[in-house]
Amino acid sequence: LDLFGPERRNSQGVDLAEPTVTGPLLETLASRARIERHAACLVDGAETGAAPAPVHRPADARVAAGTMRAARPADIEAALASAVAAQPAWDARGGGERAAILRAMADALEAHRTPLLDLMTRDAGKTIADGIAEVREAADFCRYYAVEAERHCAVEGTPLPGPTGEANRLSLHGRGVFLCISPWNFPLAIFTGQIAAALAAGNAVIAKPAEQTPLVAHYAADLFLRAGVPGAVLHLLLGDGPTVAGPILRDRRLAGVAFTGSVPTAKLIQRTLAERDGAILPLIAETGGQNAMVVDSTALHEQVADDALMSAFGSAGQRCSALRVMLVQDSVAEPMIEMLKGALAERRVGDPARLSTDIGPIIDAEALARLDAHAARMDREAHLVARAELPESCAHGTYFAPRIYEIDRLSQLTEEVFGPVMHVLRFRGEDIEALLSELRDTGYGLTFGVHTRLEGRWETLFRKTLAGNMYVNRNMVGAVVGSQPFGGTGLSGTGPKAGGPYYLPRFANERVMTVNT
Ligand code: SER
Repeated sequence: LDLFGPERRNSQGVDLAEPTVTGPLLETLASRARIERHAACLVDGAETGAAPAPVHRPADARVAAGTMRAARPADIEAALASAVAAQPAWDARGGGERAAILRAMADALEAHRTPLLDLMTRDAGKTIADGIAEVREAADFCRYYAVEAERHCAVEGTPLPGPTGEANRLSLHGRGVFLCISPWNFPLAIFTGQIAAALAAGNAVIAKPAEQTPLVAHYAADLFLRAGVPGAVLHLLLGDGPTVAGPILRDRRLAGVAFTGSVPTAKLIQRTLAERDGAILPLIAETGGQNAMVVDSTALHEQVADDALMSAFGSAGQRCSALRVMLVQDSVAEPMIEMLKGALAERRVGDPARLSTDIGPIIDAEALARLDAHAARMDREAHLVARAELPESCAHGTYFAPRIYEIDRLSQLTEEVFGPVMHVLRFRGEDIEALLSELRDTGYGLTFGVHTRLEGRWETLFRKTLAGNMYVNRNMVGAVVGSQPFGGTGLSGTGPKAGGPYYLPRFANERVMTVNT
């Protein structure tokens, strides 16, 4: 599958080891840090919303990241009415025209990388390296779905065979108004990806980003409008889920939902959609995981340590793909655990705006309290292997000291722990089958890692897990659009894979016209 078209290319990276690149970047970021940021709802292209309220800054709670204006009932109604009216004309424009706008959006994202980085470090506590990766992923989504829109949504449709005297045509159309509910952990990439897919398929969109990260969302939504998406086709509504998404989910005019976030919220959305009057709506949900990495006795220790640390502590563990539990064969457990300890000691926790920082803050006080509660239980029930130190500079932010615990049974992990905590569990060779079936029984199937030098072992393991994304002899995060379409099964999501060739049709209605000629 030629996923980006003839001139396939993913967005380019930035060489963070090159001082002539990083010097000006850091200078610009430092100068931008003094600029006040304000986010508002965007309805019909105009800013609106309630009185401005401060936005939490994960790296330092003493200073607000900026302000945001939440959606009021009248804003929600105006957005819905306008989107419903505008959608048919947007759909009629066809995939080709929409692709051109998405490509303009991809270029705009790259051109605005530095202001976006600034917003991601203040709003979401993202490190600079993670922020750059997000800009790239967001641009990739736009370019990828542009090709997909051309492939699937041509105005003339696709002719299908039939007997003489009969002409058949299959065409894909936007469903209507899509509600895109995106999370704070990828405030740019997932926000942009959901919207780009829904728009590409011919839908009008109401975007409801996480209430923690309105500044990035507002900036990116504004870029979409400047790239050529009509104000009536894309509306941004800021605020919390129950107040803003709730009424839209119950509204008959809604045609579909894309959601990334927690399992309980996905279920609440599904219940709400099922109980409302009107059509049966699709929910494209991507949720969490209980992600494991199997390390057998043949694995290369240094590589495992590197990959495991990256997978568990990159983005402060606040990725749905992050490694939560390493299953390590008992014969190599001692040296492996020693190496993990050493590797964690080298990681630096701190201000996300500094280039030297490996692990930034936790999104907010509520998330931090959940991690503290988990750590308190682990301190009682498990063995603390290692704990990184928090420097004094972390005193005013929502930081959590990254740590590794050794557990003695999988059932000690009752829920997804969304932060920089890695668990290690030793297994005897003969117990791996039972462990894998226990993992399957959790119901999650997002990412799965394997480190082995036994050629082909991964094929057997692939069949025994439900993971949507399996990684062998490498880290297990950072899926690349077009190369690693991303999404899970079971409790981890409804199945569609973002950045993959089967994603776009999930946002569309398929229609067939048969003409007796
Ligand atoms: N797509 C991200 C990753 O692969 C997680 O959302 O890490």
